[in-house]
Amino acid sequence: MWIDVLTLFPEVLEPLLASSIVGRAVRAGTVDVECVDFRDFAHDKHRSVDDRPFGGGPGMVLMCGPVFDALEHIEARREGDPARILLTPQGELLTQSLVAELARQPWLVILCGHYEGFDERIRIGIDTREISIGDYVLSGGEPAAMVLIDAVVRLLPGALGDETSAVSDSFTEGLLEYPQYTKPRSFRGMDVPDVLLSGDHGRIAAWRREQAIRRTLLRRPDLMNGFGTAKQEAT
Ligand code: 6GU
Repeated sequence: MWIDVLTLFPEVLEPLLASSIVGRAVRAGTVDVECVDFRDFAHDKHRSVDDRPFGGGPGMVLMCGPVFDALEHIEARREGDPARILLTPQGELLTQSLVAELARQPWLVILCGHYEGFDERIRIGIDTREISIGDYVLSGGEPAAMVLIDAVVRLLPGALGDETSAVSDSFTEGLLEYPQYTKPRSFRGMDVPDVLLSGDHGRIAAWRREQAIRRTLLRRPDLMNGFGTAKQEAT
């Protein structure tokens, strides 16, 4: 997969691209991530990419010129059309099913906003999917880009050492993950549930499913919508 990120702060994304699962996927060539700086496409010697809003009001607005130019530059480098993502708190909420959909694309181009927002003609003139990572406001799209890239890359074939571990993740089946334990069996008076030590794979699977359903009902009942059978299993 190719991921191009248009940002004012390429250095913010570098640590993510060098570390852990994403770093390994980059080194293995599973994903190729490139950060492009909007400022390289500024039209003046001050390298400005934003200006005050027409009609007045606070803050600065990202200008069309550098964004369109940067995008055309990025897209001329490869064949085909990317899936374009505009990161904004006004977008549709990022969910695991949207992440899975994005992970099936061969090429993503991610636009990070900054300051007060984008000139509306960026929305009108460029075919993008607007995505938000939650109902709160960040000062820029970079942390959101990192969230999105991490969530997508870990689903790419081979990115996780163990192919099955993404399958049991929270949300993948519409449920939160069941509780996990490792050594020692007893820690400060807290014991590992007997069933996990039983060696009975059927009982263990049933226990884990029940725990996942209970936990989801308790913490995130909103996720249980459309999960009628699981709801019955828990009662
Ligand atoms: Cl994608 N950008 C900004 N600036 N704030 C956000 C967001 C994105 N998602 C949630 N809050």
